[in-house]
Amino acid sequence: MENENRMSSEEIMNETEMSLEKTLRPQYFDQYIGQDKIKNELMIYIEAAKNREEALDHVLLYGPPGLGKTTMAMVIANEMNTTIRTTSGPAIEKPGDLVALLNDLEPGGILFIDEIHRLPRVVEEMLYSAMEDYFIDIIIGQGETAHPVHFPLPPFTLIGATTRAGNLSAPLRDRFGILSHMEYYTVSDLKEIVERTSDVLQTKTDQTGAIEVARRSRGTPRIANRLLKRVRDYAEVIGEGVVTEQIASKALDLLRVDHQGLDIVDQKLLKTMIEIYNGGPVGLNTLSANIGEEMDTIEDMVEPFLLKEGFIQRTPRGRVATAKAYQHFNIPLNENKVN
Ligand SMILES: Nc1ncnc2c1ncn2[C@@H]1O[C@H](COP(=O)(O)OP(=O)(O)O)[C@@H](O)[C@H]1O
Ligand SMILES: [Mg+2]
Repeated sequence: MENENRMSSEEIMNETEMSLEKTLRPQYFDQYIGQDKIKNELMIYIEAAKNREEALDHVLLYGPPGLGKTTMAMVIANEMNTTIRTTSGPAIEKPGDLVALLNDLEPGGILFIDEIHRLPRVVEEMLYSAMEDYFIDIIIGQGETAHPVHFPLPPFTLIGATTRAGNLSAPLRDRFGILSHMEYYTVSDLKEIVERTSDVLQTKTDQTGAIEVARRSRGTPRIANRLLKRVRDYAEVIGEGVVTEQIASKALDLLRVDHQGLDIVDQKLLKTMIEIYNGGPVGLNTLSANIGEEMDTIEDMVEPFLLKEGFIQRTPRGRVATAKAYQHFNIPLNENKVN
C-alpha cells in the first residue's frame, strides 16, 4: 500500500525543481524587482484598462534572454486579473493554429507569444487585423470550393517577447501600443533577487555573499539564480552552509565566471578578438567560426552585455575590442594598432 504512493527520488526531485521555479517567479509587481520604468508605465496602463473594463493594449517586451520577459507577461496577467495562454513564434505553424489560440481566449485574456520574431509570415499577416480590429479573415478549402471565412474574435491582449526588436517587421511592431525595452539589472537589484531566491531555497546568504553573486551575474536574474544554486552547493559541501563573499568567490572561480561576470564564452570571444585579430575590426561570421558559437547566440546573448560594459564596440567594419578589454586580460595595448 505504502509503496504505491511512494515516488522515486527522481520524481521528487522534478517536483521540487518545478515548484521551485514557480515560487521563484514573481507573481505581482511588488515582487518583481527592478525594471522600474517599465513597471511604472505598465501599472498606469493596467489601472486605466481595468477602470474602462477594456483589454490592455498590446505589449512588446524586448531585451536579452533571462531578464524577466516571460515573468513580466505573467505578472501583467495577474495584475489584469485575467488568464494567459503561452505559445511561441515557431509553434504557430499555420493560420488555423492562430485562430484556435485566439478563439480560446476569454474576453480581455492574454496571448503570450515568445520569440515573436520567428512567426511564420502568413501567420504574422493574420495578426494585423486580429490586433487592430479583433477579427481574422481566412480562406477555407482549395480551388473551386475555396471561400473566405470571417472570424470575429474576443477583445484580447497580445504580449510578444523577443530578444531583438529590430528583427520584427515594421507593420507588426507598429501594432503594439506599449513597447517595453528590458534593461540589464543593476548590482543592487540583483542583490535583492539573490536574497529573495536565497530565502526561497532556504539558504543562508550574507550581505557580501549576495553582492558577490550579484556582481558576477552579467546583469541577468536567470544567471543570478543559476549561480546562486551552484554557490549554495559549494557552501554546503566545502563551507559551513552559508554563502559568504569568500565562498561565492571561490565557487564562481571554479565555474570560470570572472570578477566582472564574464563567462567562458565572453572570455573566448574577447581573447579571440585580441589575440588572433589584433583587436579587430572583425566580422560576426568570422568570430562565430572561431569560437564555435552561432551568430544568433553571439548577437543575442554575448554581445549586448559586452557592448553595454564597454568591452567591445561595433563599427561599420566589424567588432572592435576596447582598451578596457585589453586591461581586463592584462594584455598591453599594441601602440601601433589603429582601431
Ligand atoms: N525582476 C525579477 N525579479 C525577480 N526574479 C526575476 C526577475 N526577472 C526574472 N526573474 C527570474 O529570472 C528567471 C528568468 O526570467 P524569465 O522571465 O524566464 O526571462 P526571459 O523570459 O526574459 O528569458 C525567472 O525564473 C525568474 O524567476
Ligand atoms: Mg522567456
